[in-house]
Amino acid sequence: MSLICELSDLQRLYHKRVPKMFQGYCESGSWAQQTLALNQSDFRQILFRQRVARDLEPRSLKSQLVGHDVKMPLALAPVGLLGMQHADGEILAAQAAEEFGVPFTLSTMSICSIEAVAAKTQKPFWFQLYVQKDREFTKKLIDRAKAAGCSALVVTLDLQMIGRRHADHRNGMTAPPRLTLPNIIDIARRPRWALDMLKTENRQFGNIQGCATGVDDMNDLMKWTAGSFDIKLSWEDIRYFRDLWQGPLIIKGIMEVEDAKECVKLGADAIVVSNHGGRQLDGTRSTISTLPEIVAAVGDQLEVWLDSGIRSGQDIIRAKALGAKGVMVGRPMVYGLGAMGKQGVSKMLQIFHEEAELTMAFIGHRDISHIGREDIVFRKDSF
Ligand code: FNR
Repeated sequence: MSLICELSDLQRLYHKRVPKMFQGYCESGSWAQQTLALNQSDFRQILFRQRVARDLEPRSLKSQLVGHDVKMPLALAPVGLLGMQHADGEILAAQAAEEFGVPFTLSTMSICSIEAVAAKTQKPFWFQLYVQKDREFTKKLIDRAKAAGCSALVVTLDLQMIGRRHADHRNGMTAPPRLTLPNIIDIARRPRWALDMLKTENRQFGNIQGCATGVDDMNDLMKWTAGSFDIKLSWEDIRYFRDLWQGPLIIKGIMEVEDAKECVKLGADAIVVSNHGGRQLDGTRSTISTLPEIVAAVGDQLEVWLDSGIRSGQDIIRAKALGAKGVMVGRPMVYGLGAMGKQGVSKMLQIFHEEAELTMAFIGHRDISHIGREDIVFRKDSF
């Protein structure tokens, strides 16, 4: 544990412990992976203004996200198949989040079901919805989330079809993995993963079981998604879900001002400026370069968050400086989980918290809400 200093340490351990096909599923982007790269490199264009001789006690990152008190302005992003990265992955990540004091978001495409996560956690978690053509089924998912006490609904709008992810095709991604010779050899080198997986019953898609019968490999999953996710989605449809869900509504996958304005019109509480971690439309801008114009257009009418590319507590401060109310993280959670289970997710959160708090102090603030545009400069005039 003491050798884990930063996220890349968890990532290294993750590479040792998790089967290659799930590493590929987590780490790759779509097409040429340009957006995946930009999401991180554009953060490096933002430089801090260092201040000195300030009173820096006490310090706090405490914030509110859609009315929830959080220890820092970060929520764990919805990640499909988390239960394949580590047995019972969704349960362990949710437990780590609730102990730390940040929200966990359960994906529609999770391995552990809504009910399984609710049974093993004390505090409410959030549920992420993919809208399906079968409105009754979609409504049932919302009802299940309500019955489980979920305290916010995250509707993801950028995956009505799946982006081209070559790594998954090349790796023959299946959940659980098909026992081919290369897979058996790969898994044999990762005995802890395999033993934990044998002990759990959570090895299928927990929320879509039954309706996704026959979904076996990535091709099947793409066909199933193409057949069941609603490509004809309209803002009217989203309004229908707004009416079904009385709690906080967060719309994820917004990259353009016009779409952000639609979210305001339908009464969303927050939007996540997200390109799905560079996994959907490759060639879009990075989220951090898109954030300022969206904050300027709608930031006074709903909460504007960001995800895609956050890899340290310093990145949280960079996003705050450009006006994000909060951030979500996907892959950092997966690295922690795959590396060390629940303890690894806690470690990632602890590292990000320490890094954010220290950076905040160096730029002269005691409270994260005081961070603003004046605390940074751009390295080159790229956005
Ligand atoms: C995701 N993401 C995602 N989003 C969502 O709304 N539902 C989902 O089921 C998934 N599944 C998923 C799987 C994996 C392996 C990854 C990496 C991502 C997108 C996720 O919520 C988030 O937008 C990105 O992960 C943010 O980018 P970073 O933090 O991974 O750079």
